[in-house]
Amino acid sequence: MKIGIIGAGFIGGTLTRRLTALGHEVRVANSRDPETLAELAAETGATAVWAADAAEDADLVIVSIPQKNTPDLAPGILDARKPGAPVIETNNYYPQQRDGKIEAIESGTPESVWVSDLLGVPVYKVFNGIYWKHLLNKGVPAGTDGRIALPIAGDDADGKKIVSALVDELGFDPVDAGPLAESWRQQPGTPVYGKDFGVDDTIKALAEATPERTAEWSA
Ligand SMILES: NC(=O)c1ccc[n+]([C@@H]2O[C@H](COP(=O)([O-])OP(=O)(O)OC[C@H]3O[C@@H](n4cnc5c(N)ncnc54)[C@H](OP(=O)(O)O)[C@@H]3O)[C@@H](O)[C@H]2O)c1
Repeated sequence: MKIGIIGAGFIGGTLTRRLTALGHEVRVANSRDPETLAELAAETGATAVWAADAAEDADLVIVSIPQKNTPDLAPGILDARKPGAPVIETNNYYPQQRDGKIEAIESGTPESVWVSDLLGVPVYKVFNGIYWKHLLNKGVPAGTDGRIALPIAGDDADGKKIVSALVDELGFDPVDAGPLAESWRQQPGTPVYGKDFGVDDTIKALAEATPERTAEWSA
């Protein structure tokens, strides 16, 4: 697939490494001149581009940047992707450590719904709860004992199939976590977040989640 990645940090860089190794054609961007990604491009064979060009002709786009930077993305930044190409976002709201106060999220808007509203496109929430080193190193073939499951929240069944297939290809069991409106079930502070559970425990943890923000995850 042609995959555009906006954000080239721990998660965007890891996905660039993993997805190019699987044979995908990756265009990757950060917030600066593509020259700043020359090393990552040379290492992986990905093409470093300006963020405005990352989605061009893509079959799938991944947005992986700090939550607070989402409003900085240019309007229409995803418009050049192929029709129907799903958009994954991996972001988490870290009000106390990084993002400051985002009023809408504090008052109950799920983190990914806020991102989706700003981007003006439907998104799939996935990869938000796995530590980047585990995303890099812990993918294993389907059927392997102890395979980590990753919840995927999103609204469109066709897009979810594409995203699920990619998660599986990366070495993780995809779990349907329901619609984006319920993506709070996998936000920071929930039972599933950061846990590396298998399928059964992931489903159980998603069901046990509650939507209110705890003090630890509030501004
Ligand atoms: N680290 C983890 O293990 C982990 C796990 C799951 C989810 N997450 C979440 O995934 C997101 C990314 O995390 P990370 O750890 O990869 O962050 P990171 O290492 O700080 O990298 C952030 C990346 O986003 C880029 N960026 C920032 N603003 C941008 C903009 N306006 N346009 C284009 N690119 C922009 C940065 O580019 P510059 O270098 O040019 O600033 C950088 O490449 C966060 O929301 C985080 O909470 C992280």
